[in-house]
Amino acid sequence: MLLPQIEALIADEADLIANLANIAAALMQTFDFLWVGFYVVKNDELVLGPFQGPIACARIQKGKGVCGSAWANGETIIVPDVDQFPGHIACSSDSKSEIVVPIIKDEEVFLVLDIDSDQLKDFNALDAEWLQRLAGLIEAKIFNVSFDY
Ligand code: SME
Repeated sequence: MLLPQIEALIADEADLIANLANIAAALMQTFDFLWVGFYVVKNDELVLGPFQGPIACARIQKGKGVCGSAWANGETIIVPDVDQFPGHIACSSDSKSEIVVPIIKDEEVFLVLDIDSDQLKDFNALDAEWLQRLAGLIEAKIFNVSFDY
């Protein structure tokens, strides 16, 4: 239900940062996660982008933490228990589980969507599926093509 609302929310705005900011807010308002935000690939690092939630680390190296691993692999990562993920970067000690979804442009990861929960095992394959559709919506927006559900 949220996807068409997000599509409408960003339909008339071309600025990426403005749209990512509103998408983070829409996810937070709807699901009340601990942290929702984007990291942007810049000069071979992930740099903190628009987010909602507690302050977060500004830069993450490729292959580091959940975000840097999702960037390196180009694949969604679900972490049921952050304490069990080797190299997890703890921005907030309240974070218990996490999902990171890469967003692709020209066959390269150029953004990651990171969501943290204060509950263990809060993300499953269904979350991954729908967040990947959201990633597809963002990719379509960047290329200014219509999004196919
Ligand atoms: N936990 C992430 C770092 C970003 S914060 O959760 C906002 C990671 O391990 O990459």
